[in-house]
Amino acid sequence: MNFTLKIWRQKNQNNTGNFETYEVRNISPDASFLEMLDVLNTQLVMEDREPVAFDHDCREGICGSCGMMINGRAHGKGRKQATCDVRMRSFTEEQTITVEPWRANPFPVIKDLIVDRTAFDRIMQAGGFISVRTGGVPDANSTPVPKVNAEEAMDAAACIGCGACVAACPNSSAMLFVAAKVSQFALLPQGQPERKERVQKMVAQMDKEGFGNCSNNYACEAECPKGISVTHIARLNREFLLAKLT
Ligand code: SF4
Ligand code: FES
Repeated sequence: MNFTLKIWRQKNQNNTGNFETYEVRNISPDASFLEMLDVLNTQLVMEDREPVAFDHDCREGICGSCGMMINGRAHGKGRKQATCDVRMRSFTEEQTITVEPWRANPFPVIKDLIVDRTAFDRIMQAGGFISVRTGGVPDANSTPVPKVNAEEAMDAAACIGCGACVAACPNSSAMLFVAAKVSQFALLPQGQPERKERVQKMVAQMDKEGFGNCSNNYACEAECPKGISVTHIARLNREFLLAKLT
């Protein structure tokens, strides 16, 4: 398959950046989007030009490293897929594809398609953990967890921290990410000792980083590669209110 690519090129955070146009030829329909970019980069290197910088690691939808706007959609138009899951057969022959980095003030561009997502790390450092005494491994059934809670906690824990929810949101809100992280602990016994402190600290850090508020747009849920539900945002709001009132 052949494609025309309009890719955002930006040297660094201080550079304004611009779109550049490239042609890629003979791409396998079964190639992933990142493999197609590999082909482009090989081509650019052979021509003694600078390759396009983009984040990636597992290439299996697990790590959350990859992420870019493909034709204006976070991770492309498909549902529940990371950029590395996108296959070239989902585009049409000779299609023009626009590729941009996440657009959000708390995620400044480092280079080309790579943005700085350390704001998420700082939110996690603020409270996205549990404190436990180390020691022998307890029996698996020594801390019973209701099945419904275990299932919901697992669903929340599926968040890979990719940042697509922020990029998709018109307010650059990180509520879905923070809600997933708060939920996964709030639903389990292990998360109870720091429950109230955790939600307040994580929300405070989220605000400090400059993420916007949720206005029920639901674009975050639609673009999330792990299908994290906005019902977790409702839980985040309840957790926050409970912590503030008690
Ligand atoms: S909630 Fe979904 S879109 Fe947001 S960071 Fe987690 S996995 Fe990515
Ligand atoms: S490279 Fe790991 S999720 Fe895409």
